[in-house]
Amino acid sequence: MKRLTTKAALQAYRQSQDRNLTIGFVPTMGNLHDGHLRSIERACQDNDRTIVSIFVNPLQFGPHEDFDKYPRTFDRDCQLCQDAGVDAVFAPSPEELGISGRAQADADGRTSLRTTVVPPPKMTSILCGRSRPGHFNGVATIVTQLLNLVRPDRAYFGQKDAQQLAIIRQLVRDLSIPVEIVGCPTVREPSGLAYSSRNQYLSEEQKERASVLYRSLKRAQTLFEEGFRDRAELLDAVKTELATVPELRLEYLELVDPDSLVPLASVRRKGLLAIAARMGETRLIDNLLLNARAPIIAIDGPAGAGKSTVTRQIARKLGLLYLDTGAMYRAVTWWLAECGVSIEDESSVAEALQQCDLQLQSDVEGDRCRVWVNRQEVTDAIRSPEVTSAVSAVSALPVVRQFLIEQQKRYGETGGLVAEGRDMGTCVFPDAEVKVFLTASVEERARRRKLDLERQGYEVNLDRLEGEISERDRQDSTRAIAPLKKARDAIEIQTDNLSIDEVMDKILHLVPAGH
Ligand code: PAJ
Repeated sequence: MKRLTTKAALQAYRQSQDRNLTIGFVPTMGNLHDGHLRSIERACQDNDRTIVSIFVNPLQFGPHEDFDKYPRTFDRDCQLCQDAGVDAVFAPSPEELGISGRAQADADGRTSLRTTVVPPPKMTSILCGRSRPGHFNGVATIVTQLLNLVRPDRAYFGQKDAQQLAIIRQLVRDLSIPVEIVGCPTVREPSGLAYSSRNQYLSEEQKERASVLYRSLKRAQTLFEEGFRDRAELLDAVKTELATVPELRLEYLELVDPDSLVPLASVRRKGLLAIAARMGETRLIDNLLLNARAPIIAIDGPAGAGKSTVTRQIARKLGLLYLDTGAMYRAVTWWLAECGVSIEDESSVAEALQQCDLQLQSDVEGDRCRVWVNRQEVTDAIRSPEVTSAVSAVSALPVVRQFLIEQQKRYGETGGLVAEGRDMGTCVFPDAEVKVFLTASVEERARRRKLDLERQGYEVNLDRLEGEISERDRQDSTRAIAPLKKARDAIEIQTDNLSIDEVMDKILHLVPAGH
């Protein structure tokens, strides 16, 4: 792993890398903990190269804040980065970035001797901005500078600092900075306390008591799940729980829109509950996203990786609809045959589709989808040999695909489903709460398929199966319609050495709390 301390060394490193490689970037102030490390691991997984910056930024600390005292543990941080698979750490001095070591947050940048990036005051004057004037200008300025130096494809920021994340998303949009901002879930200690470099200012008892922050947010979440949507109801629930630890001094408690940060009188679709409080001298923040929509879980991956078994079981376990897209294609195939339409005749197909009212429902066991076309149940009929032999040609018709994607998206509007396929996370449900890319090596998939076929009494040759699977992968990822592609924000799960239960466990961990 490279340790880079100058802009020139960073530029040289960037130039030494092939232009086609993707670069992930995780900006930090060091003193790395599990919260940082999960984002770093994610960046390593998503990108060909990962760069972590370690820079305690004077511009974002107020005059009475802990800039001098902020924990600096450079060697340990480098070791952790190296162990996580980071390619380069960028750790410049303030002077290297043209910042005086004694510079500090300057509310409107007026007394600054260098250019200040000023995000929309509406976003910086509330929540933490109230008590930390100039803080977000300091963050925006340094993040812009770091993005310009590192020029990553993706940059990773924690949901723990939800206001910072919203401001940076806005900054990147408004200034057309060519980078994808990836938000990473808040990582917590077992007590629920969110990891923070400032937690080490707390004693063990204080930490234990500080876990009331998360407990109080969860209490509001429970109410939210019961249907309570009003600001006063939700904030009161938080306050009641916080009152059990009088030692914690509340600085603010707010309910805002997670993107614009505008305060909300009630939550329609999404709300961000955010808290700042002091335990002794230590300032702690936490937040929770309230999402009125039940989650969508999109599971993509190559054929034979175990998607359908896992998808069915997840649906059953979470009581969500198993959106069996295969059954939808079969239902359309059945309907076209019922109408006597030839698939060569595109306009008749389109007309027949207009008359096709498709309904899906998980059956009691949840591992199968019951299907209705125009109120007639066709769950068994769509498994007939006639449908089986025609479904692939019907699926290849662009009008059919268009029709079914619209239907699938319609199911997605209310959320609460699990879907598997090749492009669920990229094309059909790009804003799914959970995106998984389930994969296994060709050898492993061939081995599983062989076992499966042998169980059905067939003799098969492993080499031939491997050849067929490789060829199918190639076709799936190069085909013009719905090519197999991992969504940028999908979590890849390699299932070679995992049991179904282990795979399920990994996916269930990704599902937002409360579902
Ligand atoms: P720092 O506090 O070191 O945090 C670096 C990144 O780690 C931020 O994106 C932050 O949101 C994320 N992070 C911190 N604690 C986390 C937790 N418990 N779970 C998940 N993510 C967590 O934030 C900064 O530094 C600075 O403002 C910076 C962006 C580097 C600009 O100076």
